[in-house]
Amino acid sequence: MANLAIFASGEGSNFQAILDAVRPTPHAVCCLVCDQAKARVLGRAHAAAIPAHLVDYRRRKRDEVEEEIGAALEPYRIDLIALAGYMKLLTPRLIDRYPGRIVNIHPALLPKYPGTNAIAESYGSADARLGITIHRVDYGMDTGPILVQESFDRTGSESIEEIERRIHALEHATYPRVVIELLDALDHVSR
Ligand code: GRF
Repeated sequence: MANLAIFASGEGSNFQAILDAVRPTPHAVCCLVCDQAKARVLGRAHAAAIPAHLVDYRRRKRDEVEEEIGAALEPYRIDLIALAGYMKLLTPRLIDRYPGRIVNIHPALLPKYPGTNAIAESYGSADARLGITIHRVDYGMDTGPILVQESFDRTGSESIEEIERRIHALEHATYPRVVIELLDALDHVSR
């Protein structure tokens, strides 16, 4: 068994997809870290009885907030952190506490369209293939080593809402699978 923490800031559809997929495995989703008091993901965690740690970055140094996050994670002996729409950049200090063990999902085919506007930017491009990326987190924004990419051909006549739906469906099909593979591998290492 391996222990997972999920960090999310918003809707939490990826949080939910991972939670549902991990439930029948030997692994555990130990907690949620969230930085937005009104995020829908908090309700999802509550409904599933997953402990949620709400952190407030306002008027505080990032280091101080991450100290709090580190302390909150400590008792769970976390093996892997999955960022799922977490809208804050992590500093090297937190990243180095979990070397190679933090992953992120991005709604575009990196290295194209990093940042927070990826769906609109890839939709507005002339690219014939759109997709998603799961990567390890390094010190940059959406720059870490790529683990998996999945993509689809667009016809060109889709609305941005349709493209968004396809991207999210691809995320929900892919991220839980990759997270479970990583948890399986970590479990193997620790035995
Ligand atoms: C996803 O599109 C993910 O790729 C991006 O943020 C979005 C989070 O969506 N990093 P949700 O909160 O999981 O529904």
